[in-house]
Amino acid sequence: MKYLTLLVEKKQGYSIITLNRPDKLNALNGQLLADLQHAVTQAQQDDTVHALIITGSGVKAFAAGADIAELQPLDANSGLPFSERGQTVANIIEHCGKPVIAAVNGFALGGGCEIALACHVRYASTNAQLGLPEVSLGTLPGYGGTQRMTRLVGRAKATELILSGDRISAEEALKIGLVNEVVSQEELLPRAEKLAQSILTRSQTAVRAALSAVLAADELGHVEGMRFEAERFAELCDTPDFKEGTTAFLEKRPAKFQHQQS
Ligand code: COA
Repeated sequence: MKYLTLLVEKKQGYSIITLNRPDKLNALNGQLLADLQHAVTQAQQDDTVHALIITGSGVKAFAAGADIAELQPLDANSGLPFSERGQTVANIIEHCGKPVIAAVNGFALGGGCEIALACHVRYASTNAQLGLPEVSLGTLPGYGGTQRMTRLVGRAKATELILSGDRISAEEALKIGLVNEVVSQEELLPRAEKLAQSILTRSQTAVRAALSAVLAADELGHVEGMRFEAERFAELCDTPDFKEGTTAFLEKRPAKFQHQQS
């Protein structure tokens, strides 16, 4: 499928989605959000895709935010669906059921940062700058940033970032836990692909169950979360992959997973 604002490259077992409006620093306009929703949904439904990488085209930006030309005419009526539209796309990424890795190759600001926040792992290149500058435009992060940033880095740091609107370097983002690792521009995609390839060698049935349990930590209270974890654990005990993984260990041989539910 050809997209107006994305490049999608299918590799062995995973896909790379590249946000592709380089002349606008990959700013997220309506077309890009629609394309991104479609591409992630396609990957979700494709049994041969087990992980996704999202990055930006060019060397300057992952995405420099929502498209400000589309923000500017909004009023209270149109603002609500606008915010909910971005939230929906971020939610689809977070809940697509497969690991999504953000390869943050430059500016990840506003909505761009919020898309990265919806991914499950974030790697950044040394030149990356991240931030939620919306208050400098008279608005606030409306694609889930107030919620996800707070959960990810804690209230104190999130408040500082959101109220100041300041951009932070990749190194600073690493220090506060906003990104998992910082590497050079050249190493960024290979690093993301290495993680995707490593995940591919595991039981995909287990990977998906584990991902759902990690996400439940944000959405359920402690007691319910523990219950959710135990239920997923019990379900996995009935799967061919569990029998194979544990038997292979005891027989001192590599596991051959079928990646199927029981
Ligand atoms: N929406 C729409 N267009 C954007 C954009 C955005 N969020 N961010 C960048 N662009 C466009 C610029 O208007 C410019 O287009 P033009 O060449 O047609 O004038 C092009 O992308 C390049 O941006 P420019 O500002 O010239 O690059 P720079 O290197 O000088 O600055 C930034 C880079 C990221 C610091 C600057 O573009 C910026 O502050 N962008 C807005 C960030 C923001 O507030 N995001 C939150 C939105 S909710």
